[in-house]
Amino acid sequence: MSMKQHISQLLEQVGQMQAQNMEDLEALRIKYLSKKGEIANLFSEFRNVAAEEKKEYGIQLNELKNLAQQRFDALKAELDLKREQAEKQDLTRTPDPLPLGTRHPLSLVKEEIIDIFSRMGFTVAEGPEVEDDKHVFGLLNFAPEHPARDMQDTFFIDKQPGVQRPEDVLLRTHTSSVQTRVMTTQKPPIRVLCPGRVYRNEAISARAHCFFHQIEGLYVDKNVSYADLRQAMLYFAQEMFGPDTKIRLRPSYFPFTEPSAEMDISCNICGGTGCSFCKGTGWVEILGCGMVDPNVLEACGIDSKQYSGYAFGLGVERITNLKYRVKDLRLFSENDVRFLSQFTAC
Ligand code: PHE
Repeated sequence: MSMKQHISQLLEQVGQMQAQNMEDLEALRIKYLSKKGEIANLFSEFRNVAAEEKKEYGIQLNELKNLAQQRFDALKAELDLKREQAEKQDLTRTPDPLPLGTRHPLSLVKEEIIDIFSRMGFTVAEGPEVEDDKHVFGLLNFAPEHPARDMQDTFFIDKQPGVQRPEDVLLRTHTSSVQTRVMTTQKPPIRVLCPGRVYRNEAISARAHCFFHQIEGLYVDKNVSYADLRQAMLYFAQEMFGPDTKIRLRPSYFPFTEPSAEMDISCNICGGTGCSFCKGTGWVEILGCGMVDPNVLEACGIDSKQYSGYAFGLGVERITNLKYRVKDLRLFSENDVRFLSQFTAC
């Protein structure tokens, strides 16, 4: 290889020099820049170059030497910087905590309610959201022409207009349907809580939604009385809203309970003195309840002469609003993390 070729080959190699670590760099230095390296060898050959070519080769050789030195210095600076940065990192430092998610407020309140009733011996029962007329209405003593069976109130999936059939398919409007499933398949004593999503054909607004969450309860046994119902409701209200909470039961009507009542608690915002939340009355309504109508027990195959029972149903959104003062129902289903991430307490 002529000297010219050798120089241009080395120029190319030197231009592409790479080093992953100090060992690589040292190897490059020995190969090109040391006293016995390639460039030093060329300088010793330079002695033999003809006098008229000395100028040209001299320039090229110096260029090569400078380039190799520059490249070496740049690689060294890069490696030094890397080492410095690595030394600065504190490898014993504990890592940044992972951002944890939060539980949905409706789940928190649902769990709390289940927890309170489980202390009274209730267990959870679940059932389908897509139901038939029989379990949502028929077995629960709803008259054939009851307005809940109207398409304006209930989302029907399969229904012939004008006629009402036990097999009509619909989205359940309450979780009482789970109670009828339990009563038709289990023998008393029965003590179940039925949490779940229910659907009603309502326009969506801050105060109403086409779906919401309920927890209904059912207790069927020998000698279950209205006093048992009242005591269970009082225990629940005081566990949920504090020991000073009072309750009152107002007469009401449901097809499946007799007598029926609506339960109010003393307003937990003003303590019962009257405020805008309770519209000055000192009371807020929280649930419906009553003694299971004997017709319902019989329809489900339970002897109403031997057994009696109480039932109740509440809206989880309503209890959550009371607890956390959420003013707009839509927030519960919009999945806005700015809202959801506030529920970190439990
Ligand atoms: N099922 C009723 C509703 O959806 C609530 C209720 C349950 C009332 C049990 C009384 C007894 O509104």
